[in-house]
Amino acid sequence: MKKLLITTGGGDCPGLNAVIRAIVKSSSADENWEVYGSVEAFEGVLSDPPNLIELSLEKVAGIHVKGGTILHTSNTKNPLNYPIKQVDGKWHYEDISDLLVQKLKGFDAVINIGGDGSQRISDVLSKKGIPVIGVPKTIDNDLIGTDYTFGFQTAVQTATDSLDKLVSTAESHHRVMIMEVMGRDAGWIALHTAMAGGAEVCLIPEIPYSIDKIVTRIQARYAVGKGFATIVIAEGAKPINGTVISSLGSLHSEHVRLGGVAFALSQQLKEHGCTAEIRETVLGHVQRGGIPIAFDRYLATLFGVKAFELVQSSDFGKMVAIRGNKIVSIPFQEVTNSTKKIEVDGFEIQAAKIIGISFGD
Ligand code: F6P
Repeated sequence: MKKLLITTGGGDCPGLNAVIRAIVKSSSADENWEVYGSVEAFEGVLSDPPNLIELSLEKVAGIHVKGGTILHTSNTKNPLNYPIKQVDGKWHYEDISDLLVQKLKGFDAVINIGGDGSQRISDVLSKKGIPVIGVPKTIDNDLIGTDYTFGFQTAVQTATDSLDKLVSTAESHHRVMIMEVMGRDAGWIALHTAMAGGAEVCLIPEIPYSIDKIVTRIQARYAVGKGFATIVIAEGAKPINGTVISSLGSLHSEHVRLGGVAFALSQQLKEHGCTAEIRETVLGHVQRGGIPIAFDRYLATLFGVKAFELVQSSDFGKMVAIRGNKIVSIPFQEVTNSTKKIEVDGFEIQAAKIIGISFGD
């Protein structure tokens, strides 16, 4: 029997379980394969004894509707920069990819489901001779090479439902409601939510905003008697000549933590003469949790089936992707060098402006 290992790395995301189920179901039709899941990304393979779960059809039955990942995950134990020991209160990190390669030698294929950080690990392992396939995951939708990642649409749906609810209070109290969404350095969640939910203002990392322009926009809206406004702001947005709002990430995390920009904007608006009453909502991890919507289950399932197809044909060193409605595969090198941002001069921003959304530019 050949052995296939599945890992889920980075932040959790709606649809991860649907990918796992699709891989296990595909492989069950080919009797040559046993499938294992590594618990908490690569930690399960690295630990002694290994912490693996045998993934049978029974084990994955019905999991496509569940959020999170049955394999658990971690975004603080990157094998390329692994926390080794603490000396005088300072952590020392080492690249332990060679050790990981040794531990993976018993597997005939690895399917690594994760975002940009995870796919960088896939790329390194692949270059060191491990047969790896990547599956793109992130609610941020910022992975290059794929039109969509699963989890994104669920996050947008949750954010849009929340914005719809905020409109009730905005309208009833004549308030300005600011809603902060995730997305790191890309504004995909914010743009889709603002468009779907009919926000007046959408602030994204790709377009630094002028506070005065937003105030003018809000005052003009109040002047014609609309009496309320909604603003969707991405956590990575910043004013012209300003900086993003961040704090230290969790221990061993590669990322600073973004967040708090809704409160900063509220303050800025008041300081620049906005007279309306303002309230702030930070959606946070609510938009990353819960059951995946149908599209994400569908996309995750297509990705899982495609990933196993690549395993069967020994077409390793690639990440599955969706491009123009086709499920394809692309070499890791195409994925790992940058993030996918919204084109500032593209049709989506143009369309949003035509229907009256202000980006504060
Ligand atoms: O990448 C997904 C994401 O949810 C980002 O949108 C957000 O900035 C980050 O992860 C939050 O990470 P954590 O769960 O470690 O706080």
